[in-house]
Amino acid sequence: MGSRRRNFLVAGNWKMNGSLAGVQALAAANADGAMARLNLVQLVLFPPFLYLPEAQRCLGDSGMAWGAQNVSEHESGAYTGEVSAQMLREFGCACVLVGHSERRALFGESDAVVAHKFLAASRAGMTPVLCVGESLQEREQGATEAVVARQLRAVLDLAGASAFTDAVVAYEPVWAIGTGATATPEQAQDVHAFIRRCLAEADAEIAAGVHILYGGSMKRANARELLAMPDVDGGLLGGASLNVDEFMAVAITAQRLAQGVT
Ligand code: 13P
Repeated sequence: MGSRRRNFLVAGNWKMNGSLAGVQALAAANADGAMARLNLVQLVLFPPFLYLPEAQRCLGDSGMAWGAQNVSEHESGAYTGEVSAQMLREFGCACVLVGHSERRALFGESDAVVAHKFLAASRAGMTPVLCVGESLQEREQGATEAVVARQLRAVLDLAGASAFTDAVVAYEPVWAIGTGATATPEQAQDVHAFIRRCLAEADAEIAAGVHILYGGSMKRANARELLAMPDVDGGLLGGASLNVDEFMAVAITAQRLAQGVT
């Protein structure tokens, strides 16, 4: 047994990819109980909304949780095209992504909107997975910490530090998403430690327990060195999560690290 304070969480964000058959293929990978054997790794699938009922049907007792990629900040009402947190709960969602950089950049989600979505998820009893991260330009300007601190602050100010008792933060540098250009383990560790320090200023105990995932071109080939970093508590995989073998290989890497196998 390893000595990590936090077990690993390995999640797959399918974005607007995948299929009904893809959900079934993932469930089939569990035919021999492979997922349940990963007892030190929490697996989560974030498929498109429409596949959530199928995830509920065929991942129900796999040990893998499922969640949505987005949620409305409103409880109910005249918001055509939106999906509420309560509706996601009805389909067994355990968590929900909020503030993914694609939502921020392509759909104009502000820090304030993201904070309200975080709160909506929390209030419905789901774990918000708050995505933060800087663009290439912001990194080159030396603004990484300022950007990440601002994104965290918006949520801390609205929801309070206690809301992070059951929340996850995903550090996803925008320049590493879908580009094949992964952050180095040191770059990831630096920002993860910074995120934890920001949360610790609000509540040290809660900060110590929060899972901070890395996302951005994570795959089998680079997972081990990233997950070996002390403040990297798992991964949020995009492209690599669409391939069952690749996704499971990252999960097995996390299990081995958690067991202290080198
Ligand atoms: P990639 O793994 O495809 O770079 O995507 C990461 C991501 O955005 C996960 O949310």
